[in-house]
Amino acid sequence: MTDMQKAVYEREHERFCVSTGDVAIDFNQVFGNGKPLVLEIGFGMGMATAEIAQKLPDINFIGIEVHRPGVGKLMSEIMNRGLSNLRIVERDAIEVLERCLPNECLSGVHLFFPDPWPKKKHHKRRIVNERFLSLISAKLKSGGYFYMTTDWEEYAHEALSRLEAFPGLKNSAAGFSERQAFRPVTKFEQRAIRAGRPTFELYFLKP
Ligand SMILES: C[S@@+](CC[C@H](N)C(=O)[O-])C[C@H]1O[C@@H](n2cnc3c(N)ncnc32)[C@H](O)[C@@H]1O
Repeated sequence: MTDMQKAVYEREHERFCVSTGDVAIDFNQVFGNGKPLVLEIGFGMGMATAEIAQKLPDINFIGIEVHRPGVGKLMSEIMNRGLSNLRIVERDAIEVLERCLPNECLSGVHLFFPDPWPKKKHHKRRIVNERFLSLISAKLKSGGYFYMTTDWEEYAHEALSRLEAFPGLKNSAAGFSERQAFRPVTKFEQRAIRAGRPTFELYFLKP
């Protein structure tokens, strides 16, 4: 972290990060309103997250990340852009889903360029598995969406088969979907573009 990021992190943590324990977060209290809630898992440095929140002020966003420099960077973005509809949880996403979110509280879940774990022996670390999909579908409201993107073709196909086999979510497209207009290019997507890798989009709905 730069000195600037460290300073912002120390000073503003309480203001922009939601502290969590083992009880459900009261989002009406966090945001002071009951607007629809969208969760982003693994926002990285958070530039796309901040841009989306600025573009969609009628939606509340919670970004989850464990990488502290990214948390510090997104805190600065929230401050600089004056965003009242975006807050951060600095904790493992699975723990947050399991322990801190009430069922059927989310209108959407974003998972942009999750760690691809390219080596076969590490595939079991990939976040998109049965347990994850069960958690996502339990936390989504009926009609809510799960939006995933990846530039890792083999992971994209694995995720697509898992999602299509999972009864709690339905594909909104035949196979991979179109890019959603609200989504800016993320930091990891920029790398993929430079390396000539296309992005695969998966957009599923909870019936
Ligand atoms: C490949 S990066 C993508 C970052 C960003 N979404 C982008 O597109 O630029 C994946 C991010 O997910 C975060 N991450 C991975 N597993 C996580 C977990 N279980 N809980 C929270 N964050 C996680 C990592 O720290 C990393 O910043």
